[in-house]
Amino acid sequence: MPKHADDQIPLERSPGPSWQDVLDQDSRPVPEFLRAESPYLNGFSDIPKDRYLSREWHEKEKACLWSRVWQFACREEQLPEVGSYIVYEIADQSYLVTKVSEDEIKAYPNVCLHRGRLLKTYDGRCTEFRCPFHGFAWHLDGGLKHIPAEWDFPHLETRSEDMALPEVNVGTWAGFVFINPDPEAESLHDFLGEEIMRHFERWDMENRYIQAHVSKIVNCNWKIANEAFSEGFHVNATHPQGMTYTGDPQSQVDIWGNTARNISPKGIPCPLLPFVPTEEQMLRDALDVREGEPLPIPFEEGETMRTALSRAGRERFRESFGDRVDDLTDAEFLDAWVYTVFPNFMPWGAFNRIFYRFRPNGDNHESCIFEIFYLTPFSGDRPPPALETKLGPSDPWTDAPELEKLAMVAEQDTFNMQRVHQGLKVLRREGVLLSRYQESILRWRQDLIQEYVELGPQ
Ligand code: FES
Ligand SMILES: [Fe+2]
Repeated sequence: MPKHADDQIPLERSPGPSWQDVLDQDSRPVPEFLRAESPYLNGFSDIPKDRYLSREWHEKEKACLWSRVWQFACREEQLPEVGSYIVYEIADQSYLVTKVSEDEIKAYPNVCLHRGRLLKTYDGRCTEFRCPFHGFAWHLDGGLKHIPAEWDFPHLETRSEDMALPEVNVGTWAGFVFINPDPEAESLHDFLGEEIMRHFERWDMENRYIQAHVSKIVNCNWKIANEAFSEGFHVNATHPQGMTYTGDPQSQVDIWGNTARNISPKGIPCPLLPFVPTEEQMLRDALDVREGEPLPIPFEEGETMRTALSRAGRERFRESFGDRVDDLTDAEFLDAWVYTVFPNFMPWGAFNRIFYRFRPNGDNHESCIFEIFYLTPFSGDRPPPALETKLGPSDPWTDAPELEKLAMVAEQDTFNMQRVHQGLKVLRREGVLLSRYQESILRWRQDLIQEYVELGPQ
C-alpha cells in the first residue's frame, strides 16, 4: 500500500487547549523535558489484520521479536535475597531470573540440560537449581554442581563448560529487571535511550514497592489488549464518566526510539462534551464524589481542580518524597503519564502508581495475559511485594479489590478486547484504520515489530 508523504499534509491537533497550553498555567517552573515534543508520523497505511489473527505472524514474533528484544521480567524487590528466583514466561519460552550474589542478577533458560525438564515451575528461593526428574543440579551462578550416577556419564568429563546453564542478558533500570535472550543485543541502557531515563530520574521508581499485582487472561491477541491502553481516543465512548475532567483528545504523544509517552491533561473537559462543566463538577467527577456529599480534600470558591488536586497530591507524597514535592509541577501530580517501553511494558510516569504488561498467554496467539501493578512509595522499611492475584477470562477485575477504582475502568477497557479480536475475523477489509496522531503509538509499535520480523530470527 503506498504511503502518503507526511510532509504534504500538515499535522492537525485537537480543538481546545493542548497539554502544552495547560503547562503554561502550572504553578511551578516547568522543566525542559515536559516541554519536549516528538510526534511520530510514518504514513497512513492500515495495519494488516493478520498481525493479530494469524498463527504465522505469532510464530514470527516468537522467532524474531521475543527472542531478541529487551523485555520486563520482574522488579528487583521480587528478588530480595541471594537465591531468590522468579520464572518469567514469554510465549513458549521460560526463563529463570535469579539473584546470584548481593549485586548480581542472572537469567537462564529454565530447563535442565539432561533430558530437558523445566527446572522450576513457580517463584521461590533456593540454594541450587536441582532438577526434579533425575537430580542434576546447578549452582546459582549456573555452574554444574551435581551429576547423579556420575559413573554413567563418562562423556561429560570433556564437556563440563557446555553443561553450565546458558545465560541470557539481564539489565536493570529504575528497579525494573529486564532480560534479552539475544547474545548480540545492545545494552538495556542503549535500548532505552537517554530520554526516558532522564524523565524517570525525577520520580524515584526504585524506592517504591509492588502494592498490588493482578493478572487476567483475556481472549484476544496480546497487541489488542496492549493497544487499548496506547491512546486516549477511546475515552469518550469507553469511559464517558471521565469526559468532564479529562482532555483526552488533547493528549500529547511523543516517541523516542524504543520508548513512547502519551500524556493526557486532567482538569480540562473533553471537547466532545456538549456542555462546559464547573471546576467543582470536574473535581467531584475525578474523585467520584456525588453532588451534595462532602469533598475529601479542601476546595475553595474560585479555585481550579488542578490547584486543589496538586495541593492534595503534594501533601500525600510529602511523607515519602520530602519537601522536594514543592518543586514538582502540578502536571506531575495530576495528569495521566502513560509511558511505553517497546514492545509490551507500560510504566506510568510521575506520581501515578500504575504499570502494565501484556504477553501472549503461553503459545496461544488468541489469548493474552494482561497485568496491572501498583508501584507505591513507602517510608520506613520496604513492605514485601504483593502476591499475584490471578483472574481467569470470565473473572471481572472487580474481583481484585486491591485495584480500588481502577478495577471498574479496566473492566470497561477489557470489555472491548475480546470483541475486537472477534470483530477482526468479521472485518471485510485487509487492515485496521488508525488515526494519525492520537493512535500513533499503535503505528510505532507495529512498525517496530515489523522491523524485528524483517531482521529475522536470532
Ligand atoms: S531431566 Fe533433569 S535430571 Fe534428568
Ligand atoms: Fe481505557
